[in-house]
Amino acid sequence: MLYMITVNNLTKIYKLGKVETKALSSVTFDIEKGNIVGLMGKSGSGKTTLIRQMSLIDRPNDGSIIIDNIDVIGLSEGKRSKLRLNTLGYVFQEYALIPELTALENVYLPAMMLGANSTAYKQKAKELLTTVGLENEIFHLPKELSGGQQQRVAIARAMINNPKVIFADEPTANLDSISAKTVMETLQNMNKTTGVTIIFVSHDPDDKKYANQLIFLKDGKITEEYV
Ligand SMILES: Nc1ncnc2c1ncn2[C@@H]1O[C@H](COP(=O)(O)OP(=O)(O)OP(=O)(O)O)[C@@H](O)[C@H]1O
Ligand SMILES: [Mg+2]
Repeated sequence: MLYMITVNNLTKIYKLGKVETKALSSVTFDIEKGNIVGLMGKSGSGKTTLIRQMSLIDRPNDGSIIIDNIDVIGLSEGKRSKLRLNTLGYVFQEYALIPELTALENVYLPAMMLGANSTAYKQKAKELLTTVGLENEIFHLPKELSGGQQQRVAIARAMINNPKVIFADEPTANLDSISAKTVMETLQNMNKTTGVTIIFVSHDPDDKKYANQLIFLKDGKITEEYV
């Protein structure tokens, strides 16, 4: 099976009191293993909603999602948690690092949670921080790092359990253009060296160049897609 993710007729409706918003409307597409996917579209078009359903943070109202041949909709919460920790990596706009932990500790935390061997995960965390260009900052706290450096720590953390997919919702939205470029190139480098599938959201049309698959959303529907 070539596909990493298959999404079929995905629908998500938010209800706030009597008001219903159809954030996703029968969305269907496939993502091949090893792709870098750019999810584009205006504010409110459904990008975050789509990424939240695919990354098992939320559940849709209708439709199916297959990740690495597993039908994830039918899974129990416990199995979904395991899949999140073992198979998926997350990079958020606001970095989401733990302020009291060093860069190194932030990176190996998800491996510690899996009960992995501590010598091995500390070594791996150091290697990942070197890969993202932070070999001299491993003992820095998040507040002692720039925004771009914090986001690169977050990318290293997302890679610690050898995920098959990384989800990045506007990873460069809080960064200046030079740091943003470094972060996007770091993601691209991770894809090239490990084959990890990457799905990123961006507002910046210029970021299209980092993707080899583009999905455009408008009012919860796919308007264009080319691979
Ligand atoms: N928790 C929620 N409850 C109710 N409505 C929501 C919720 N989250 C999102 N929505 C609505 O769903 C639609 C899609 O929102 P979504 O956050 O997915 O857009 P987006 O494309 O990520 O936008 P942005 O570029 O601003 O981040 C919007 O109309 C939004 O108001
Ligand atoms: Mg969003």
